[in-house]
Amino acid sequence: MADKDKVSLEDIVSLCKRRGFIFQGSEVYGGLAGTWDYGPLGVTLKKNLMNLWWKTFVEDRDDMVGVDAAILMNPKTWQASGHVDTFTDPLVECSNCKGRFREDKIDTSKCPACGEKDSFGEARQFNLMFETIAGPVADDDSKVYIRPETAQGIFTNFKNVVDTLYPEVPFGIAQAGKAFRNEISPRDFVFRSREFEQMEIEYFINESDWERLFEQWRADIKAFLAEAGVNAEQVHELEVPADDLAHYSKRTIDYEFEYPHGKDELLGLAYRTDFDLGNIQRASGKKMEYRPKDGSPAFVPHVIEPSFGVERLVMAVLCSAYSEDEQNGEKRVYLKLPENIAPVKYCVSPLLKNKTELVEKAREVYTKLRENNSVMWDDNGNIGKRYRRQDEIGTPYCVVIDFDTLEDGTVTVRDRDTTEQKRVKIEDLI
Ligand code: GAP
Repeated sequence: MADKDKVSLEDIVSLCKRRGFIFQGSEVYGGLAGTWDYGPLGVTLKKNLMNLWWKTFVEDRDDMVGVDAAILMNPKTWQASGHVDTFTDPLVECSNCKGRFREDKIDTSKCPACGEKDSFGEARQFNLMFETIAGPVADDDSKVYIRPETAQGIFTNFKNVVDTLYPEVPFGIAQAGKAFRNEISPRDFVFRSREFEQMEIEYFINESDWERLFEQWRADIKAFLAEAGVNAEQVHELEVPADDLAHYSKRTIDYEFEYPHGKDELLGLAYRTDFDLGNIQRASGKKMEYRPKDGSPAFVPHVIEPSFGVERLVMAVLCSAYSEDEQNGEKRVYLKLPENIAPVKYCVSPLLKNKTELVEKAREVYTKLRENNSVMWDDNGNIGKRYRRQDEIGTPYCVVIDFDTLEDGTVTVRDRDTTEQKRVKIEDLI
């Protein structure tokens, strides 16, 4: 779309539902607030983004390894990390309608639900961690938390990784997976959900290197966002002012994206000093030290943490890709997704679905292309309708098998963005 400002949240939500990207969680039962289900195309889009992140930051680097820790962790984890005491949002309740809201997200002079004026009392701190019971006896000893971030599963495995792989500082551990937060007011589609996925890295460093490596991470994040298809013009680095920094952070940048609902956080980059490993060392009584191979004294590494939210990345990618133009006097909606992110790379169809020779040839091309690509078969409706459908889901190329194909072995390849059509030899395509 020429004018990015025109992408509305409704445009994105309705496209996601219409084309099978994202549905409301438990929709058939009326939904469950703050939960979302990925449909056939959404799950592939999400996986493509998560795979790109894993490949970029783990597989393609020799200073990074991955872990996949349990979602349920010993509750001491969350005491030591500070989540039990401080992972809270301010909650206010309307004395008239009993609606509950996050104090910092509303104008408290008037209830946003019932309109009553001055109906809110003092805010109380509401802890966002979900609790559950591990084992058959429900008592205080069996209470566990469902992880609100993936980061702690990395920190608690720091010693295991060091003792088994002997990496040299600086090195990083990455983890991608589900996180759960009992958000007071889930909102703005998947942006603030109660169940979501994170992709986090803890990059262990020598304190003296932090400024240089922090800058390196800024460059790495920028390059990754560009490859994922996030429009750089809509990304803003917000340097968190010193007096707003968490007590353990010396520098934090919130990366904000211009979402349809406003500029809001996409991901964070934080220098967390030795806060987390120091806490684990104190709480567990186990040393969280790294012993340099050159014999210099052991130390507790400091940490730089790039923390991505998958849902917010999916939304930023969809908003960046969402485009509209006019074709033959009609409005066209298309997703300008990068080829490596698009859920479908090629759509193959026979010009006419009742001509056996065309269908057979098209099936041949489809089967060949599928060996190395994600390919969709589509023979519903006329060619124009197929193109519109594929444009809306961001398929870069539509391949049509027609009568010329039977004569000269060429197919029509139509480009999503330009709508240009070229004749290409089947061998060249494959
Ligand atoms: N370990 C640090 C940490 O968890 P955070 O800023 O609380 O930091 C990191 O979360 C990222 O996780 C955010 O930048 C965002 O992308 C994502 N995120 C956090 N809460 C979310 C929610 N309720 N719904 C969707 N994504 C969320």
